Amino acid sequence: MYRDLRHWLSCFEECGELKRVDGVSCDLEMSGVWEILAREGKGPIPALLFDNIPAYPKGYRTLFGLLASPSRLAMCLGLSQEQGSRLSLVKSWRTKMSNLQPLPPKVVASGPVKAHVLTGDEIDLSRFPAPRFHELDGGRYIGTCHGVIIQDPDSGWVNVGTYRVMVVDRGRLALHMVETQHGRILWDKMCNKRRQPMPVAIAIGMEPALWFASSVRLPWGISEYDYAGGIQGEPVEVMPGPCLGLPIPAHAEIVIEGECLPGELTDEGPFGESLGYYANLGLSPVPEPTVRVKAILFRDDPILTCAHPSKPPHDYGLMGNIRHAARIWDILEKSGVPGIAGVWCHEIAGGALFTVISIQQVYAGQSKQAGLIASQLANTGRYTVVVDDDIDPSSLNDVIWALATRSDPERSIEILRYCPTTSADPAVSPREKRKTKLAPKPLYSSRAVIDACRPYEWKDEFYPVAQVSNELRLQLLDKWGHLFKEFLPDA
Ligand SMILES: Cc1cc2nc3c(=O)[nH]c(=O)nc-3n(C[C@H](O)[C@H](O)[C@H](O)COP(=O)(O)O)c2cc1C
Repeated sequence: MYRDLRHWLSCFEECGELKRVDGVSCDLEMSGVWEILAREGKGPIPALLFDNIPAYPKGYRTLFGLLASPSRLAMCLGLSQEQGSRLSLVKSWRTKMSNLQPLPPKVVASGPVKAHVLTGDEIDLSRFPAPRFHELDGGRYIGTCHGVIIQDPDSGWVNVGTYRVMVVDRGRLALHMVETQHGRILWDKMCNKRRQPMPVAIAIGMEPALWFASSVRLPWGISEYDYAGGIQGEPVEVMPGPCLGLPIPAHAEIVIEGECLPGELTDEGPFGESLGYYANLGLSPVPEPTVRVKAILFRDDPILTCAHPSKPPHDYGLMGNIRHAARIWDILEKSGVPGIAGVWCHEIAGGALFTVISIQQVYAGQSKQAGLIASQLANTGRYTVVVDDDIDPSSLNDVIWALATRSDPERSIEILRYCPTTSADPAVSPREKRKTKLAPKPLYSSRAVIDACRPYEWKDEFYPVAQVSNELRLQLLDKWGHLFKEFLPDA
C-alpha cells in the first residue's frame, strides 16, 4: 500500500494519471476546468494538481479527482488494477468489504502534519487556496475531500465523516451535517442537549482509504480509522492534536482543530450539490454549526484535496456508486434473494437514484422482491429497475432497451409513497424544506420499482432477441473483420 497522499500521487504520476497545472485561479476556474475535463474528456481523466495559484505562495496546491478513475479507486481499495469494468470492481469490492477486518489506528507522537502549527493571532484560513466551486455558491469551501473528526464523550468512539466545510472568516468555519449523520448526532448531544463545547478536527489531504472510509455509512460505534486500516491492511497513524488532543491523521496535509460552542450557528451555503442542483437555494444561507479555529497544522507545501459536486457524472460518483452497488448486492444475497447477476447505480443519476439489478429468474415474484428490498437501501432513492441476466446493468443502452420492451407500465411499476429523503433532494419543494427548517419535520419522497424482466409466467415463450449470435459474430469477424478494422473497437 502507500504511506500517505504524496506517496500515492507519486505512484500515479508514473502511470500518467496525474497532471500538474500552473496559474489557474481557485475562484471558479480550477473547479470549472476540472468539470469540463471530467465531463467532456475521453478515457480515464488524470487527477489535476494545481500549483502557482494566483495570490497564493508557490507550493500551496489543490488536488482534484483523487478517486475519479477505476484504477485510482482500485488502488485505494487494495483491489487488483486489472479490474477494468465497473461491475468487476463492484464484485471485488463486495468480496473485500464482507471480509474486512477493522484495524485500530497506531498512535504516534508526531508526524509530518506538524511541520507548521499556527495558533492565536497567526490563525488565518485565507492563506489556503480554498476554492469557490460554483457560480452561485455562497462562499469558499475548504472541506470537500476531507474528514471531520469528532469523539463521543461517553464511549470514546472517534467518528470521521465527510461533511462540507465553508470558510466564514479567518478564524471560523461552518459545518453542513445533515440530520441523520453521526457527526450531527454527536454535535446535537454535546452542544444542544448538554450545552457544552464540542472539540472537532478537520483533516484535509488524508490517506485516500481514510477519505473513502469517511464517506461510508458505518454502524454507530465503528470508527472510520479502524475501517480504513482494514482497507489498507495497515493501521492509520494518528497523533494527538496539539491543542485539543483528538486523534488526527499524522500524515494529513492540513488539520484544523477547533470547537463548536452551544447555540453558535453561522450562515452556510448555498452550494452546488452532488445531485446536480443548488437544492437549498432559496433556503440558503442556512444557519449551521460554527467551528472556532484553535490551531492550524500543515505540511510544507500543503495540498488541499477537493471533491467537486456538479451535475452528474461528477468526480466522486464512481466511488459512491461502486460502494452503493456492492452494498445492495451484499444485502440482497444476505436476505436470501437468489440469482443476483449484477448491480449498478448509474453515475449519471448521482448517488443511488437510478439503480439496476440483473437477476436470473428462479421463481415468481423474485424480481419484485429484489427491487423492493434494494429500493430502500439509500437515504435518497428514486428508481430501482430489475432486469434479466442477459442485460448488463451498467449499460444504459441495454437497460433502457429492456425497460422499454419487457416492462408494461400497468403491471411493472410499483410506487412507494412516503419514503425517507434528505434536503438535497430536488424533488422536494422549497416550501416543504422551509417548513422542515422552521420546525424539524420529516421530509418524504416517493420511489418506484420497475420490473423490466421478461414476465415470469411466460418468460420461456418470450420473443427471441434479434441480434447476431455470438458464434456467428466471431465467425464473421474472423472472415471479414479486416475490411472494417478502422471502424471496430480494438479486440
Ligand atoms: C465528497 C462528499 C461530500 C459530502 N458532503 C456531505 C455534507 O456536506 N453533509 C453531509 O451530511 N454528508 C455529506 N456527505 C455524505 C457523508 O460523508 C456520508 O453520508 C458519511 O457516511 C457520513 O459519515 P457518518 O456516517 O459517520 O455520519 C458527503 C460525501 C462525500 C463523498
